Amino acid sequence: MEKFNHQSLSYKKSQLLLDQHCLNSISKQMKTPFYLYSVKALENNFNNFLNSAKENNISKPIICYALKANSNLKLLKKLKKLGCGADIVSGGELKQALKAGICPTKIVFSGVGKTRDEIRLALDCHQEGIYSFNIESIEELVTVGEIAKSLGKKARVALRLNPEVNAKTHKHISTGGLGHKFGILRQDIEKCLKRKSLFKHVKLVGLSMHIGSQLTCLKATQKALKELCETALLVNELEFLDVGGGLGVPYHPEQGVSPINEYMKRISSTIDKHYNQKRPAGAVIPATVFEPGRYIVANTGVLITEVIRTKTSGPNKFIIIDAGMNDFVRSSLYDAYHHVLPLKKNRTKNEYVNIVGPICETADSFAKNRALQRVKAQDLLCVADVGAYGYSMSSVYNMREKIKEYVLGTNGEIL
Ligand code: LLP
Repeated sequence: MEKFNHQSLSYKKSQLLLDQHCLNSISKQMKTPFYLYSVKALENNFNNFLNSAKENNISKPIICYALKANSNLKLLKKLKKLGCGADIVSGGELKQALKAGICPTKIVFSGVGKTRDEIRLALDCHQEGIYSFNIESIEELVTVGEIAKSLGKKARVALRLNPEVNAKTHKHISTGGLGHKFGILRQDIEKCLKRKSLFKHVKLVGLSMHIGSQLTCLKATQKALKELCETALLVNELEFLDVGGGLGVPYHPEQGVSPINEYMKRISSTIDKHYNQKRPAGAVIPATVFEPGRYIVANTGVLITEVIRTKTSGPNKFIIIDAGMNDFVRSSLYDAYHHVLPLKKNRTKNEYVNIVGPICETADSFAKNRALQRVKAQDLLCVADVGAYGYSMSSVYNMREKIKEYVLGTNGEIL
């Protein structure tokens, strides 16, 4: 079997365990395929993130979890209990965050296409509105101002800088370059700051950035953050700098561990050197907002799937499973690596197989040429690290029903 080393998954007496709980036994009560999330891993990840920020002297860290990664209500309620805020990108996500009890004063609203209805909803959901609209264009700033005026409110806004950096990651999820639809160029922010009329019904409280996802090389992050700090110096006073999300996680055995400490260290030193030490006289040290999605949830989730049948075609062996690209699309869309592990180890020798779903597209593949023990129809397999962008990107393609999500409590109970 392939090499793997995981925080929450391990084998004991041939059985695959999630947090020490036997996945085979749990799966007996459920219909495959299904998602299962570990609360324990979720709490660990959140605490690691916050502790790492504190250990690296990040001033006033505020964690706004990016709901797009996984908006399961039970997980959100746990995060809320831990003091987490939310980064949302739609009215639907706003409603879900509120349903989980997350206070609007801890919500930031990102996205290039906020509609008037969504903006109104976010302004109206609390006396003070939300913590920040992260504004992606001057046109959007004008619209938010108009709606705030009509409601007799002042909207809290941050301008999202497009720092013109190319983050090293899959091209679909790099977002900080010139030519990408995201953020506002520095020269446009400079012009905008001079137009006082733009700020009659909005209050500029922060600056933000987000240059991409699954970032493991942090050079671009540091470069972008320096730009953000230099831009911040043009404003008299800011309540916060929002450094976005994007911290990568290890999916592949060769990726080692997440560079979280290095990430926090660089953020802390860059803000200190390029903003705090140069900030305008009298300006307070701003809070640091983070929008992590993947780091908080990726390794909390598994997808349990059953082998429908196996098939040999010339030199190729296919393992056809009952989960498809509609249930989990990352491997098909980004060629992403995810461990595929048998729930029960047997003593057969590894063979090299293609693990595919039932959807009528060649892209419907979970793993190519992967070493796996011999499996047969009805055997159960686990696709690992699917807590982020798994269920949240699933669809009903091929008229397949959405699959169920379950949450494993810290005592092994299904919540
Ligand atoms: N903030 C903003 C403004 C974002 O656009 C994103 C992700 C995040 C925060 C959270 O980023 P994270 O910490 O999760 O990397 N579907 C892709 C990832 C898309 C990311 C979109 N934006 C995947 O499965 O890899």
